[in-house]
Amino acid sequence: MAILLKPISLSSETLNIYKPKSKKSHFIKKISNSCSPKPSFESQKRIISEFNPKIPLEQAVTPPSSWYTDNGYYEFEVDRVFYQGWQAVGYAEQTKDPHDFFTGRLGNVQYVVCRDGNGKLRAFHNVCRHHASILAVGTGQKSCFVCPYHGWTYGLDGLLLKATRISGIQNFDVNEFGLIPLQVATWGPFILINLSKNIQPQQKDVSNIVGHEWLGSCAEVLSANGIDSSLSFVCRREYTIECNWKVFCDNYLDGGYHVAYAHKGLASGLKLDSYVTTAIFDRLMLMKQLYEKVSTQICEGGSLDNSDAFDRLGSKAVYAFVYPNFMINRYGPWMDTNLVLPLGPSKCQVIFDYFLEDSLKDDLAFIERSLEESERVQMEDIVLCEGVQKGLESPAYCTGRYAPAVEKAMYHFHGVLYDNLST
Ligand code: FES
Repeated sequence: MAILLKPISLSSETLNIYKPKSKKSHFIKKISNSCSPKPSFESQKRIISEFNPKIPLEQAVTPPSSWYTDNGYYEFEVDRVFYQGWQAVGYAEQTKDPHDFFTGRLGNVQYVVCRDGNGKLRAFHNVCRHHASILAVGTGQKSCFVCPYHGWTYGLDGLLLKATRISGIQNFDVNEFGLIPLQVATWGPFILINLSKNIQPQQKDVSNIVGHEWLGSCAEVLSANGIDSSLSFVCRREYTIECNWKVFCDNYLDGGYHVAYAHKGLASGLKLDSYVTTAIFDRLMLMKQLYEKVSTQICEGGSLDNSDAFDRLGSKAVYAFVYPNFMINRYGPWMDTNLVLPLGPSKCQVIFDYFLEDSLKDDLAFIERSLEESERVQMEDIVLCEGVQKGLESPAYCTGRYAPAVEKAMYHFHGVLYDNLST
């Protein structure tokens, strides 16, 4: 027997017609019903406590290397850091039109984001309810999701439309076998999902509160610095790096410390002594879920005698780090974002999306040259990050120190992470 809920093209195996009681009753399973045991707090407490964020920056030591190498700590961290709160997963143009979709992974969570036929943005766990096959792959347009394993078919609203060859099945309520929904929203040009267990899925429009929950008071700062929906998407680049996800974040948050040594081409286009870091340190507010999770680093462009770099970077570069893993870089006519996804204690993926002011989107020579320069910087960073991971895994290293004049944002990141893991 097969179950048909909506008029779609049917296979010869489809036998019965079935009507759902209501669309809402379908969404009864939540991530909190996961069968996997959650990592215990007690077993990780010792590792977390090896960092003390109360010590002032000038005297503080960095988190221990076990934060970057220990498998049990890693699993605990993913659960606490990525499975709650808003997380950036994509950009608005990916689901501009009805039937657009894209897929992704956050820790062990496989998700699909789509715009249904009525124009409503939706997100679901990308897992078939029959035998757990991944349902959708990549990006594109679909009118429904057909499982590649046995053909169960779901609408873009998550409803199970067709269950093939289930003749004889008993105690099967189709309303309980739709895709499991996730909270989804947009802020400016970005798409966010929220895996928190205590949020009702698909509640009404939450966009108004997302800016505050995701960015705190920095939402206005970012908008004022040209981080908005007016730029056009240019391209995406993806890098798999053999390092813990935090190594990449730390590298980003050192206030330009490494630029003069490791990115000589980039350094010539920036006034490195003009770096200004802003991070708000009220971790008491963090405990009330009102904390500031964004730090910004602002650097002036370089001198006019290096016109190549100046063209790309403009007169000011703004680097915003949105805890835990999203970086927004606005410079000259460009904006790029870096999304750092944990793949294991010593592996991560970084997704770069590039956006450009409309007036330059047809200037292919400018785009090509800019992307080449950016690619060179990423390659240099990958070498640095993989070298640091090897050092962290060495018995010679446990903790390090901060350079107080430049590494404020990194210290802020570690403090927010500590509070996130401790509460
Ligand atoms: S696992 Fe999807 S239809 Fe069987």
